[in-house]
Amino acid sequence: MAIFGKESPVRKRRRLAGATNKFVDTIVNRQTVEGKSVRVYKKAKSRIGRYTHGTTRRATIEKEFRLLFPSRGKDFIERRFGETGKPVAVLDWGCGIGVAIREFVDKHGEKIRPYGYGKDSYAAWSHGEKVPFIQATAKDLLKYLKKIGPVDLIYSNIGLGWLFPIEGTPRREIPQVIKEGVNYVERLVEFVAPKGKIAFNITLENDKEIVQRLKEQLRGKAEVTRDRHQIYITKIAA
Ligand SMILES: C[S@@+](CC[C@H](N)C(=O)[O-])C[C@H]1O[C@@H](n2cnc3c(N)ncnc32)[C@H](O)[C@@H]1O
Repeated sequence: MAIFGKESPVRKRRRLAGATNKFVDTIVNRQTVEGKSVRVYKKAKSRIGRYTHGTTRRATIEKEFRLLFPSRGKDFIERRFGETGKPVAVLDWGCGIGVAIREFVDKHGEKIRPYGYGKDSYAAWSHGEKVPFIQATAKDLLKYLKKIGPVDLIYSNIGLGWLFPIEGTPRREIPQVIKEGVNYVERLVEFVAPKGKIAFNITLENDKEIVQRLKEQLRGKAEVTRDRHQIYITKIAA
């Protein structure tokens, strides 16, 4: 199930040319065949720029975020379900084609209420009905989160990190980029349930400053912990 934001290529293209491009990895054109207008689907390139569409599996996410998914004992999702008795709302922020979040559903079944989010959308999102996928800008995602209600866990592998300085960000822009990234995370925290978590990874450039700024700005709202290049944010119970 895919939910498209207002900046979706589907809508833009419809306005522009009557052609649609519903998913970034599928090109949909209209052609006239024997006097009838038909849709022609064509597979697009399997990469966007330098990066693949993101096919990271659940097991890799679990290894990456070891403070959420320790090798022994219950993981965050199991513990949270045990505490609340309700399906744990989990959002994969920047989910790519959505492999990991689907595999979390395979593992936890009814214990989780899954969501996938990306600024790009993929044909694979429409396979099966396990996960609602939201295509929107990072800012517009917040509107959807308002409707979804408090989320227990937002994890993001090579996703949220894009909102912070990366290799090649001009030096003079770094403070501003960090400021905007921290402001965005602060907004995201508003949509996390008490004792819920946000976990994301960053590159090891400007990492100390990012962690410091997050700690300062989230003081009283959330606790910030860092483990290797992963950042964990725990919302303080009201
Ligand atoms: C490299 S893929 C990673 C996909 C997946 N998490 C994985 O580990 O395989 C980057 C993801 O982050 C999202 N993303 C990147 N930059 C973004 C931005 N500025 N705003 C919103 N989403 C962004 C993309 O839509 C994509 O889903």
